[in-house]
Parts: sequence; structure tokens; C-alpha cells
Amino acid sequence: MSTEPRRLLPLLTSHSSHRTGRSATTCEYRCGNACAHPAPNTSDNSYFGDIAKNVLSRRGALKATAVMSATAAGFAALSGTAAAQGAVPAALAGRRGNGKPSRPAEGTDFEPVEPNTADAVHVPDGYEQELVIRWGDPVLPGAPEFDFHNQTAAAQARQFGYNNDFVGLIPQDGAGRRNLMVVNHEYTTEPHMFPAGSYDADNPTEEQVRIAWAAHGLSVVQTLRDPRGGLRVLPSRYNRRITADTEFEVRGPVAGSDPLKTSADPSGRSVLGTLNNCAGSVTPWGTVLSGEENFHQYFANADSVTDPVEAERLRRYGLAGGETSRKWERFDKRWDIAEEPHEPHRFGWVVEIDPHDPHAKPIKHTALGRFKHEGAAIKITKDGRVAAYSGDDERFEYLYKFVSNGRYKPGRSAHARRHNSRLLDDGTLYVAKFTGDSPASEIDGSGRLPSDGEFDGRGEWIPLASGTTSHVPGMTAEEVYVFTRLAADRVGATKMDRPEDVEPNPVTGRVYAALTNNTDRGAAGKAAADEINPRDGNRNGHVLEWEEDRGDAVSTTFAWRLLLVCGDPAAADTYFGGFDKSQVSPISCPDNLAFDSHGNLWVSTDGNALGSNDGLFAVPVQGRERGHVKQFLTVPIGAETCGPVVTDDVVLVAVQHPGEGGTPENPQSHWPDGGNSPARPSIVAVWKRGRFGRPGHIGR
Ligand code: FEO
Ligand code: CA
Ligand code: CA
Repeated sequence: MSTEPRRLLPLLTSHSSHRTGRSATTCEYRCGNACAHPAPNTSDNSYFGDIAKNVLSRRGALKATAVMSATAAGFAALSGTAAAQGAVPAALAGRRGNGKPSRPAEGTDFEPVEPNTADAVHVPDGYEQELVIRWGDPVLPGAPEFDFHNQTAAAQARQFGYNNDFVGLIPQDGAGRRNLMVVNHEYTTEPHMFPAGSYDADNPTEEQVRIAWAAHGLSVVQTLRDPRGGLRVLPSRYNRRITADTEFEVRGPVAGSDPLKTSADPSGRSVLGTLNNCAGSVTPWGTVLSGEENFHQYFANADSVTDPVEAERLRRYGLAGGETSRKWERFDKRWDIAEEPHEPHRFGWVVEIDPHDPHAKPIKHTALGRFKHEGAAIKITKDGRVAAYSGDDERFEYLYKFVSNGRYKPGRSAHARRHNSRLLDDGTLYVAKFTGDSPASEIDGSGRLPSDGEFDGRGEWIPLASGTTSHVPGMTAEEVYVFTRLAADRVGATKMDRPEDVEPNPVTGRVYAALTNNTDRGAAGKAAADEINPRDGNRNGHVLEWEEDRGDAVSTTFAWRLLLVCGDPAAADTYFGGFDKSQVSPISCPDNLAFDSHGNLWVSTDGNALGSNDGLFAVPVQGRERGHVKQFLTVPIGAETCGPVVTDDVVLVAVQHPGEGGTPENPQSHWPDGGNSPARPSIVAVWKRGRFGRPGHIGR
């Protein structure tokens, strides 16, 4: 392992108009240029800076002790060793490492991959990689082989969709040989999906639009572990495609309510399709939750709405303007708000897929609220209820938690799956409010650590609605669930720097959230840096860690601190859990999170602002190695690293939008097939070369 201090990387300049480090094409087709528009959260709810000042003004009486000791108590509540190892007293910060190579934490013993801009997946020495499945590969029986020059909607509906994002691997046997792999297809980038010159963005053909509908949604495929590594996709009765045309059942408190009714569905209980499915999780009962994220970009003519209440409801979700980039509204009136004003309300939910039953109707769970869900992840409370954490991925949006009323039934039988899925229809939805424990004068927006050595403090979960009961003054429960952003504004939730994946650590019980970036933080008229979002013009993002009081996900209070303040380790504004910064890999724009069986956090990135390709990183969160970020792989140029699945002997990543910085005429990437082939989003398996041709243990 190199102990050389790392150089400051050149900042990316080629996309300087795109503030996230992503290409213009990615910005347009993934999120409808969300970052180029004013952030929709213009609420003046008390943001963190105000709260910190209020807390401080009371400190004369409280003398900081309540907040400080509560923080300590929160983290000390961790069970025995985890508390002892995981808590990093400020006095230790920066001392670990001492410039000498330290012994790797279990599961992270690999030589880090160097930052690069190659058109390839780079893995550490001693590791192997193989494609699992690519855009266009057959999924369903009768699917033709991919033909880039002659693609059809009928073929695409039976083939692997575009722009794979979340990946879930669900074992079907004790040995983990046979698995169901569930993959989100977040969005389409039509200019890259057809041969150069054959897609006119101003005048797409109906067949091209229908191909895009079929390339959205999810895929389920049965896979077999190859004993020598990798995964084989099997022809199987489990294989399934879910697209923008698949029927979903709406469940929970607003199923059948007026805001969800359309002329095609007067019941308000049956929606065709799911869109922009970003991250997700495998539930303890073996189904998959998936978040509908940037749904706003698919709906045209929001500017036709004149009713001020309705117009504000649309604006708050980024629905604005006339025709869309994709022009779907020309081929189905449901994409036209002037024709179907309620259709957008039927997206922005958490959906659940049961991959064990290929005929099960997928579900939209309205009790988890409607926003730009990055994903949702489950933690079982101490009394057996189901908590679901979810981030709203946009600048200055919020973190949410849902807690069920009913109790979880262990197991993955059909009965347990049905029972547990129903738990997500009845409970309380909360939004997070954070306070810091350091004086506001010590949080200057530069990222400089406050004198107590950490960005940390306390938080509370503010209830928004429970079933038919609203907890938000002036809003009905129905309004809270359908227009959740507006409800959260009213209760003074904390504006965050793009909350993406939220994942509980199965080993320590702590919960982690990726906050990708927010270059608007601290801009004129915008919320300033605060202890939980401590950098103005935040280009590189940070990773938040918290522990619910009593270690119980049912708690409405918690202690938090930042694990990582990302960026170039040589820069003064970065922080790596107190670990020696000369030994860590540069990391920027954390997005998806996963844990290995040792409780190490794995972070994938989206939009590296340091000039390197995106990648996957491992970071221990306990012990002397806490904060020791190591890059495990890099993805091809223009691509985002998604998915990640980390088992003891295989890592899966979804390589999303490779080469998206190029054009069809001047391609940036030919990954994975090389030559003059079009770039294809694909899933890659990585394993350690072991003895006798068998995979070794990842990171050991
Ligand atoms: Fe689809 Fe929040 O990234
Ligand atoms: Ca602090
Ligand atoms: Ca994401």
C-alpha cells in the first residue's frame, strides 16, 4: 500500500456548466436537468443554522451538557465492542494511521485501485471480473439477441432494460449458488440508444418512444454462481420484465383517493408502470423495494395549470414548463398534465416487487410518502415492527422514516411475504430534523472541523401522518402522503445536500446516508452551511452516520455525526472519520451504500468532481481502521457506479450510462464490447482469484 501523500487532483473542467460533474446528456435524461433549475424547495422552514443558534442561546442554562451528553449517550448505547471500537473520541482523530501502513480491517485487504479515466472497469490486482448481463440481452423466453441497428419495442420488452441502477441478489438456496437478481432500469438516454443519425430528439418516432417505455422499469433474472467465479443468467420461469406499461396496485392510506384518479383509472388504485427507479433494497422477507426518483421529467405542460394550489404542488416537485425532452406526451395523453392532471401524482412512490412470484402484481406503497425517493431500506425495530428509511434526492430535500404499526413475521414464505408487505401500508411517516452541538461560529462553511473535533449532534423524527391522521397543521393526511415535500416544509425539516441511499448497518445497527453534493449550499438566498451540511458550494458530498436512541429504529430521537466529508484527501475541507488522510483514496459524490458481512461500508459514487472516473470504495466504520477509504474498482469513462452488492465472495456493480459524455457521432466509450460497438449499461461481477480456481474471500 502506498503511503505517499496523494496529489491534489485537477478539478474537472469539461462539464463546468454542469455543476455535479456529470455530462450534459446525463443531466438532461436522468433528472430532467434538475440541477440547472432552481431547487424546488423555496420554503423558509427553520433551517439548521437557526436551530443551532437557538440551541446556543439556551446554552447558558443548558451549558451544552444536554446536547453533548445525549450525543455521547446515543453512541455509547451501542452494544459493547461496537461502542468501544466505533466511537472515535476527538482526541484520537487524526492520530490513527500515523503515516504508516496499518493492518487492514477484515474484508478490506486489497490494494486500492488508482484514480483513472480509462474506458474499462479496473479492479485490484488478484481480482477477476466478468459481465453478467448487458442492456438488450435476452431475459424472457423468445427474446431476440440484441441488434443495435434494428431494435424494436417488442424485443426490448423481453430484453434487459437500459441504465441499470440498483442490484439486489436474493439467495434461493443455503449455499447462495442460485439467486434471483433484481435490477432497476432508472432511465433511458435515447440519443445513445439508436445508431447515429437515426434519433431526432425533436421528432422521435412512436416506435422509439415505445422502446424507451420498455427499457424502463426492472428486470428479474435467475442466476447461477459459476464455481470459478461470476454469475450465469439462466432461462427461468422467474425471469421477468417490468416496464412503463406493467400494472401496479396502489396500496396504503391514499389508494383510491381523488388525487390518484385519472380518466383511464377512475379507481385510483391501478397505475401503469414505474419510472426512474433509482436505488432500492432487499427486504428481510425477500422482496425488493425500489424508489421512483426523478419522475417529474416525464410529464409535459405543467405550465397549463392555473389553479395556484395545484400549480404550487407541481412546482414543489420540479414539474414545470411545456414539452418534455422525450416527447412521450405525443403518443399517450397520460404524460400530458393538460390532459391528465393527476397522472404525475401516481409516481414518486416506493414500489415493491416480489421476485419469487413472477405473476405477483407489483405494489406502490403510499404510506411511505411521495417524493423523489432514492430508495428505501428496512430495519426491524426491537419490538418487531418494520422501519423504512428513505432519502429525497434533490438539493435541500429531506430524510424520512416510516415505522409500521404491525409486527414482522420472520421468513420468506409466500405467507410471510404477503404479511410483511402489508406492514408497509399502515404506520407513521416521519421526517428528520437535525441539530449540531458546536457553536454556529465554528461552522464557517469551509468544512473546517469545529473545536470538538467532529461534525455531530442530535436529531429527531417529526411525525407527518399516521394512517388517516395528519400531524401537520393545515394539511389532511391525504395531502401529507401525496404532497409529502410540502408537509415536511411545514414542520421545519432539515434541508440536506441531496439525500441518496440510506442503509442500516446489519452488524452495528447504525444507519448511514449518502449526501451526494449541493453546489447551491450557501449561495445567495439559499440555506447556509450548518453542522450537518458543513460546506458551502458542496461539490464532493459527505456520508452521515446515526444511531437511534436505545439502538431501536422505533425511537424518535437519535445521535448523529459525519463519517466522511468527501473530496481530495489533500484538501483541507475533507475528513475521513479521523483516519490519517495520507492513506485514503480520494472519493467524491457518494451515492449508493452497501455493507459486507463484517459491517464495512461500501460506497459507490456518481459524478466524481475530482476528475477521475466513478468507482466503488470500501470503508471500515469501526476500530482503528474507521474512515480508511480504499477504492475497490473504477467504472468506464462517463459511467456512474450503481448497484453495489457485496457478498463474501463476489461484488456486483451496475455500470450505468457508460460514455454518456460523448455523442452518437463521437462516442466516448465502447465498453463493454470494444471496437466500434455502442456502449451498453451492464452488470459486472468481481471476485478474488482463489485457490484451485475457486473465488477467494472478498477483501481477505
Ligand atoms: Fe438516481 Fe439519486 O440518483
Ligand atoms: Ca460538533
Ligand atoms: Ca443514485
